[in-house]
Amino acid sequence: MTDPIQHPMAMDGKDIRNLRGDPIDAERYFSRDFMKQEWDQLWTKIWHIAGRESQLEEAGDYLVHTFMRESVIIAKQHDGSLKGMYNVCAHRAQRLVWDSGSLDQFFCPYHGWTFDLDGTLIDLPDRDDYPQGDPCGKVNLIEVRVATWGGFVWYTMDDDAPELLDYLAPLPDLYKNHPMEKLLRVKWVKVDLDCNWKFWSDNFNESYHTRTAHKQVAPTIDQDHFTSRYEMFPNGHARIIQMGRPSLRDRVPAGEHHPFDDVLRAWDIDPDQYPDYETKAMQGWRDLKDAKKRLWKEKGHLHYEHMNDEDLTESPFTHCFPNISFGTSADGVALFRWEPHPTDPEKCVFDYWVMTYPIEGEESYVGRTATVAVDVKEAELEHMSYDGGKGITDESLIDSVVYQDWSLNAGQTEGWHSRGYQEPYMAAQESRVRKWHENLNDYLAGNPPGR
Ligand code: FES
Ligand SMILES: [Fe+2]
Repeated sequence: MTDPIQHPMAMDGKDIRNLRGDPIDAERYFSRDFMKQEWDQLWTKIWHIAGRESQLEEAGDYLVHTFMRESVIIAKQHDGSLKGMYNVCAHRAQRLVWDSGSLDQFFCPYHGWTFDLDGTLIDLPDRDDYPQGDPCGKVNLIEVRVATWGGFVWYTMDDDAPELLDYLAPLPDLYKNHPMEKLLRVKWVKVDLDCNWKFWSDNFNESYHTRTAHKQVAPTIDQDHFTSRYEMFPNGHARIIQMGRPSLRDRVPAGEHHPFDDVLRAWDIDPDQYPDYETKAMQGWRDLKDAKKRLWKEKGHLHYEHMNDEDLTESPFTHCFPNISFGTSADGVALFRWEPHPTDPEKCVFDYWVMTYPIEGEESYVGRTATVAVDVKEAELEHMSYDGGKGITDESLIDSVVYQDWSLNAGQTEGWHSRGYQEPYMAAQESRVRKWHENLNDYLAGNPPGR
C-alpha cells in the first residue's frame, strides 16, 4: 500500500491555461444537424460499453446494445472468446434479436437465414436457388471490435480506433488496485429523460453544483474545491478526487446526527473521542485509513488487498469521454452513462448502475451518499421514464444524487432555447466542462484527441 502519485498523463484540470477557450453555443444542445455530426464523427469512433462480462458466462450468451438507430450483438463463443457483430441480417437487413439473451444460433425471423455464434451464415432455405453461389460461409454478419476492461464489455464501430486500453488510458492504470471485474451490479436502472445528452457530460465534469444541488454529500465527502484534485487527460477523460472526509465548510449543525460517525464506527473507531468537529474530520479520516489497513481482512473486505491510502478513503469521480462517468469508492462503483435518443436531440437515455464487491455475510449495500440500502444480488434491469418526476417511484432513487440532477434537466433545456442565453461564465473548477466541449469539437472536426 503506497502513497498515490499524480499520474504522468494528468494535466491540471483547474488551470484555464489548459483550455483553448472554444465558445459553447446553445445550438449544440438542440440542433438536428449537430446531432447528425455527432453520429458521423463521435459515436461511430468511440468505444461503447455493451454490458458486464458477468452477463456472458456460457457459450451462446449474448448482449445486445442498441445505440440510437444502431444495434450490435456481442456473443460468447465456444472457445470462451467474445465476438461482436452488427445486429442486422446479412440477407436483407432485418434486425436479428431485440434483447440480450442466450441462443445456439441467430435465426432471422424474415427468410430464415441462420448464423453461427460468430456471425457466419450456416444455413438458409432454398440454398440451391442462388445462381451467384451458395452464400453459406460467405455472406456473414459484419464484425465489430470487442474488448474488455474492468469487467465491462466494450465495442467500437471504428476499425481504426485505438486499442481499448490505449483509448481509456490512463484510467486502467488509475484503478488497477480495484478488482472491478468482481463488482456485482446491485441496481440497474435505465431512465428516459427530456434533455440533450450533453447536459450530463457538462454536469459530470464539474462539482461546483454539488454544494447547491446535493447538500447530503458534504458530511461524508469533502466537496470543497480548494481541497480537491483536478485532472484532465489527453484522450478526453478527466476526474476530480475529493477527500473522503467531512467538509470543514459545510458542516452538519451541532446536535444533528453526523453520517461520518457511522463510517467511523463501521471500522471500530469511536467518533466521540475527538474533541471537536475539525479533529473528527481530519484525524478521523487518517484513523479511518489506518483502521482499514489493519482490519480489512478480518472484516472480509478482501477487495482492499491492493488498495493504497487514496483508494481506501477518497472519492474520485471519473469521466470517461464522452458519455460515461463513474464514482469510485473502496467499496463500489456507481456508473452513469447517457446516450442520445435515436431521433430527438432533446431527449436522452440515462443508465445508472450501482455496483459493489460482495462481502461474505453482508446482504445489503448502502452507497456512499445514499440512505436506502439495496440487496447485494445481481439486479434486473428496470426501465422507467422520468416524466417530470412522476415516473420515479423507487425510494432508493428518489433519495439519490442523480434524482436531484434529473430534476434540473427541464430548466436547463429551456435556457438553451432562450434569447437570453449567454456564453457560460465559468469558475476554474468548471474547466473540465469547457475542455470536454473542446474535445468534442476536435472529434467533430475529424481530429479526435489522443490519436
Ligand atoms: S432479412 Fe434475414 S433472412 Fe432475409
Ligand atoms: Fe449532480
